Amino acid sequence: MNTPVRKTILITGASSGLGEEMARQFAARGHDLALCARRTDRLETLKASITARHPDVRLEVRALDVNDHDQVFVVFRAFRKDFGTLDRVVVNAGLGKGAPLGTGRFDANRDTAMTNFVGALAQTEAALEIFRDQDAGHLVMISSMSAMRGMPGTVTTYAASKAAVAHLAEGVRADVMGTPITVSVIYPGYIRSEMNEKVKNAPFIVSTEKGVAAIVDAVEKEKASAHVPAWPWVPVGQALKHLPLPLARKLMG
Ligand SMILES: NC(=O)c1ccc[n+]([C@@H]2O[C@H](COP(=O)([O-])OP(=O)(O)OC[C@H]3O[C@@H](n4cnc5c(N)ncnc54)[C@H](OP(=O)(O)O)[C@@H]3O)[C@@H](O)[C@H]2O)c1
Repeated sequence: MNTPVRKTILITGASSGLGEEMARQFAARGHDLALCARRTDRLETLKASITARHPDVRLEVRALDVNDHDQVFVVFRAFRKDFGTLDRVVVNAGLGKGAPLGTGRFDANRDTAMTNFVGALAQTEAALEIFRDQDAGHLVMISSMSAMRGMPGTVTTYAASKAAVAHLAEGVRADVMGTPITVSVIYPGYIRSEMNEKVKNAPFIVSTEKGVAAIVDAVEKEKASAHVPAWPWVPVGQALKHLPLPLARKLMG
């Protein structure tokens, strides 16, 4: 089956890291972009930089805190109105805060769970409302390799939130199967970004450009799921799933 052209792409969390670089790489491929995040100054700078390089790309930016759930629907609908259609939505906004459970940092773990899961749920609802109405659309959910297993220490809640995102994506895929709506779930390994700039042990980490190129390639192919970059994360993913827990936790650093 030929993959449809997805001209207009909405990306949440586009003010830094993977979201910002996805915007640059999708623009280079000629896509129009709807970009949102809380730091609108950074979105405006990004818009100016992309427009200077790709004057034919249409680009709109809006402020969005994904924890303001009503606003998620308002902003997604407004972007649709701007462009007429939204062909692809990338649920990317995310938070990496966290502490071992029971150590007094419920606030940090709750923030991560709310942003990464309930925020993603709101974005998925808002995207699907539009896709069902259009009878077309590609939903892309950014999970993580940490979703493969329960993870110790500071990433326990983060990993659980990313596993939840992956299950949400699979459930939606089962729901829309046989319709023109498609769903991809992306499991990135460590890719350089603000989220991990202070992380000391990030095995197999790659540059933002290289990591995002692998994401963009998988997204454009509309793969149902992709571990990125494929090397070493496809075999590492298999190992993580099947190794006994003491070995699995060592593999993730
Ligand atoms: N980098 C990696 O190694 C890696 C690996 C696996 C998965 N991921 C996932 O990739 C996604 C992007 O992360 P990143 O690595 O690019 O980190 P990042 O550089 O910290 O970017 C996170 C983005 O999310 C946005 N964001 C955070 N909280 C938000 C909120 N409440 N409302 C709206 N936007 C919010 C931030 O924008 P504002 O602060 O401006 O709102 C920022 O644009 C995340 O879902 C992350 O879990 C990353």
